[in-house]
Amino acid sequence: MTPDELKALVRTIPDFPKPGILFRDVTTLIGHGAGFAAAAGHMADRARAAGAEAIAGIEARGFIFGAAVAARLGLPFVPVRKPGKLPVPVLAMDYALEYGTDTLEVDPGAVEDGQNVVLIDDLIATGGTALAAVQLLRSAGGVVTQGLFVIDLPDLGGAERLREAGLAVDALMG
Ligand code: PRP
Ligand code: HPA
Repeated sequence: MTPDELKALVRTIPDFPKPGILFRDVTTLIGHGAGFAAAAGHMADRARAAGAEAIAGIEARGFIFGAAVAARLGLPFVPVRKPGKLPVPVLAMDYALEYGTDTLEVDPGAVEDGQNVVLIDDLIATGGTALAAVQLLRSAGGVVTQGLFVIDLPDLGGAERLREAGLAVDALMG
């Protein structure tokens, strides 16, 4: 299936989680077997072209696509986790949300020094989440030069922020 056909499988829910927000929901894309496989396939092609040696995914929805891509390519998967989940000393990074802050954590032993780590998430909005993940993966020793997303919401400027941080950014759809 083409990226345009995949876009038709993403549903848009008005006023979630707050009034005025048009929420792009990938539940319907991953609930379509052929669509999910095609999305993972397109992302795997792009990760391979970027020379990926490991795939990192951001909890929770980035795990779905990141793990599928890693398994497809036979590469290690690095989970970028929400706080308090990893049972070892972690690298942690706070990042800004629309209201307040949150934290992401990485096991420093999950990345090898100099390893080419491609970052995957379902969606990039402001880019704050992905930027924190990139900083953590770099602190762990990874070389992070490519971010791959299912959806880019370009009006929110996230992809631009990531490019300023030295990342090539690619998305299956806007
Ligand atoms: C969503 C989405 C991205 C992030 C994008 O995750 O999956 O990770 O927000 O927003 P940003 O570019 O403005 O930082 P969310 O925090 O809702 O977590 P979830 O995957 O656990 O639902
Ligand atoms: N959909 C899913 N996650 C999001 C969105 C959205 O529209 N905006 C920010 N995070």
